[in-house]
Amino acid sequence: MESKELIALALAARENAYAPYSGFRVGAALLCKDGTVYQGCNVENAAYGPSNCAERTAIFKAVSEGKQDFAKIAIVGGLKDTKTFEYCPPCGVCRQVMMEFVNPKTFEIILWAGGDQIKTVTLDELFPMGFGPDNLGK
Ligand code: THU
Repeated sequence: MESKELIALALAARENAYAPYSGFRVGAALLCKDGTVYQGCNVENAAYGPSNCAERTAIFKAVSEGKQDFAKIAIVGGLKDTKTFEYCPPCGVCRQVMMEFVNPKTFEIILWAGGDQIKTVTLDELFPMGFGPDNLGK
């Protein structure tokens, strides 16, 4: 699937963002190796701590539906009603969660800053020497 198509799905997911506290709305679209896509948005909470990022929503949705082989994820984020986007790199917790399921050298993270501005990086580039299942012999 083309990056642009995955970005469009992330933008659609962002429409459902529940972000009354930060006002920062994020959408993600996770492409599985079997071609299926799981979308996610951030879901905040009045107690702040229980808030969930868009990326983790998408990953947990996929895992809960029996999918664990992921090819790439597109992430888009920006303040509430913005029409202009900056690249929205995943937080450290989401990077760690990705580390659990993907090969960091090949898993692609697609970031978008509007129009044709697309940045594609691997998890390894964003999270070098990340601790993962390998470290536990799994
Ligand atoms: N957030 C995400 O959903 N994904 C990211 O990559 C960065 C941050 C959310 C968490 C919180 O709801 C809001 O954006 C502001 O941090």
